[in-house]
Amino acid sequence: MVDEKTLREALDRTLESTELAGLGALRRGKVRDSYVGRERRVIVTTDRLSAFDRVLTTLPFKGQVLNRCAAFWFDKTRDVVPNHVLSVPDPSAMVVTECALIPVEMVVRGYMTGTTTTSIWYRYEKGDRLYCGHELPDGLRKHQRLERPLITPTTKAEGGAHDALASREELIAMGACDARTFDAMAEHALTLFRIGQEHCARNGLLLVDTKYEFGRAKDGTIVVIDEVHTPDSSRFWVAGTYEQRLAEGGDPDALDKEYVRRWYAARGFRGDGEAPAIPDEVRVEAARRYIDAFERITGTSFVPDREDPAARLARNLAPFAG
Ligand SMILES: Nc1ncnc2c1ncn2[C@@H]1O[C@H](COP(=O)(O)OP(=O)(O)OP(=O)(O)O)[C@@H](O)[C@H]1O
Ligand SMILES: [Mg+2]
Repeated sequence: MVDEKTLREALDRTLESTELAGLGALRRGKVRDSYVGRERRVIVTTDRLSAFDRVLTTLPFKGQVLNRCAAFWFDKTRDVVPNHVLSVPDPSAMVVTECALIPVEMVVRGYMTGTTTTSIWYRYEKGDRLYCGHELPDGLRKHQRLERPLITPTTKAEGGAHDALASREELIAMGACDARTFDAMAEHALTLFRIGQEHCARNGLLLVDTKYEFGRAKDGTIVVIDEVHTPDSSRFWVAGTYEQRLAEGGDPDALDKEYVRRWYAARGFRGDGEAPAIPDEVRVEAARRYIDAFERITGTSFVPDREDPAARLARNLAPFAG
């Protein structure tokens, strides 16, 4: 495990954004800088942290953790579900097949939990018993495991708008995708989630929920894009302390963005108005949890690359320019 001193020293050297020449048109998402060419996209995962649909801060080594974590899962599942990876030439970057995005976020939930206003627990606690087309019985408890994983999609909103919950039928009716496409994505999502849960269980982790994005490659194949089972797109709980935390009426040990979301939510911030300033020790602890998740998932220790990322990225991505 990376020591605290290394994380502290990295706090003011995080990769906030990139400006790489010759790789294609730059498109900045909340977390990733994409360089879009005709057939391929270079995706640089920066250290930016977004929560509640807003970029709030950066975390040391977060981009490397995410990129390498996604690369691990893409490689592990490539024979089961086609994905967009072409190569991973840098700790923070991948080269992928440019796809036509299908504007649906395929969320899969294995537990009754969540902090955001669209989460299953937030809605259930407010009294909703119909969630993305699923009927939920009374009497469910916070953080409890669902009988089976549920597909609870949202729309993928353009530029800054919040994603909205939707059922399969609603998404088809609004033209986000057709029924066949939805069902193919749902099948892929459940397959990936099962593999993820089984792998995590062998490593003392619970894969709680996650979000997948899909796109269509030139030949029409539906492929999983963006990222898979990272601490940004998923919740991971420590399995060994789960039962006890629940018995004590507490929250599970979360090795993901939930730690940061809870910090903000405890200060009354859920995405609207001005965000409270996040202290260094919270950024360090968040980074530690991301790294902890990476190490448990991959079964390897995380060795951060400490070279200046701008120079490193320029060198490693040079073969993809032009
Ligand atoms: N293979 C691919 N083809 C096309 N688009 C992709 C591919 N992989 C990822 N993307 C898109 O690249 C972007 C990655 O950036 P990032 O994750 O920072 O975006 P975001 O802030 O989550 O979403 P957005 O800015 O699109 O609302 C996402 O919009 C994602 O849908
Ligand atoms: Mg994203």
